[in-house]
Amino acid sequence: MSKGTPTRSKSKRILIGSALVLIAAMIVPLTGYVYVAVAQPQIESSANWQETNPRSEIWREVRQGSQAYSAVKGPEANVLIDNGGQNFRQIRNGPVATFGPWLLAIMLLGVAGMFVLSGGGQKVEKPLSGKRVPRWSTYVRVVHWIMAIAFLLLLITGLSLLFGRAVLIPLMGAEGFSAWAIVAKYVHNYTGPVFAVSLLMLVLALARDNMPSKVDVDWFLKGGFAGKHVPTGKLNAGEKLWFWFNAVGGLVVAISGIVLILPNIFEARSTMQIALLVHAGLALLYIGGSFVHMYMGTLGARGALDAITKGHVSSEWAEQHHDLWYDDVKKEGKEFVGEEGEAGRGPEVPTGSGSTA
Ligand code: HEM
Repeated sequence: MSKGTPTRSKSKRILIGSALVLIAAMIVPLTGYVYVAVAQPQIESSANWQETNPRSEIWREVRQGSQAYSAVKGPEANVLIDNGGQNFRQIRNGPVATFGPWLLAIMLLGVAGMFVLSGGGQKVEKPLSGKRVPRWSTYVRVVHWIMAIAFLLLLITGLSLLFGRAVLIPLMGAEGFSAWAIVAKYVHNYTGPVFAVSLLMLVLALARDNMPSKVDVDWFLKGGFAGKHVPTGKLNAGEKLWFWFNAVGGLVVAISGIVLILPNIFEARSTMQIALLVHAGLALLYIGGSFVHMYMGTLGARGALDAITKGHVSSEWAEQHHDLWYDDVKKEGKEFVGEEGEAGRGPEVPTGSGSTA
């Protein structure tokens, strides 16, 4: 199908429209989080915190670790007051609850800025010839989408559990939030392991393609991150950075999450507190990074979505974004003719491998 036909511009409009709806669906709840981050400290500072408790000396002593007898046996038997719990609560409800929403709002604004500054996302510059090159195997695509759907479910339920008391109770009422929180907790706990396993499968399949090379240093030095054209192989340095963040950060989020769902094995409260802070803090960074990735995969680099839906991309897209890789694929004779926008199937990439070159 040639460039600019009514069908193509209609599907373009549908793509842009769906992306705008998705972004709006994320921004609207976040405004609530930002409001809470601003309003909460004001409410707290206006309350009268100056009143001193006449028994504060006793409580101070207890918090310094005075021991007593308790009938419960376990790692923390005989501890009257869990002092670590108080510190944990202050960190969770302080920096994590305050800076988290700001971080997400800044990342969304950054993505909106990239969209505007690039004049509506990078488009394929050359007219499409209908030639295509295979990019990702069915295995990689299926695993990617299982992981992405699991991630989105974890994102919605995780943010609900982290900020729900502040944001959702005013909207749904205490009973409505309680019912939703129970559903969110189960969905979160059961989806976590699906995410962890699919992440591990994707990391193993793509590690070879993501090994750093000299070209990656040039990509950073010559401004590839700012949209400048720098010669690149199959994946550019920005994509590799995202991959390694997934490999290391994602696995730490997954492992800390597994610690949290096994309290009978990891009994100490301090272990749970550290696991939760690591889990929530890194997950917020991960969510922020995923906004940039989702943008680049849809509107940011038009034509990239084909790579992870159909498994092949237009030769013009490959040449514009990954010229060194395109040269190799062409030399290997893997280029084929297929109608752009059609589900025309090209040569399949070998199962179990992300690699075509
Ligand atoms: C739901 C929206 C998403 C879209 C539209 C999307 C789109 C894409 C696209 C187009 C690619 C291939 C890029 C290329 O061939 O150059 C890709 C790869 C990838 N995606 Fe996604 N993705 C989404 C969600 C996610 C999520 C939530 C994660 C992580 C939790 C993720 C992790 C990855 C990874 C690790 C790669 C491989 C990149 C590499 O090897 O360097 N994606 N995605």
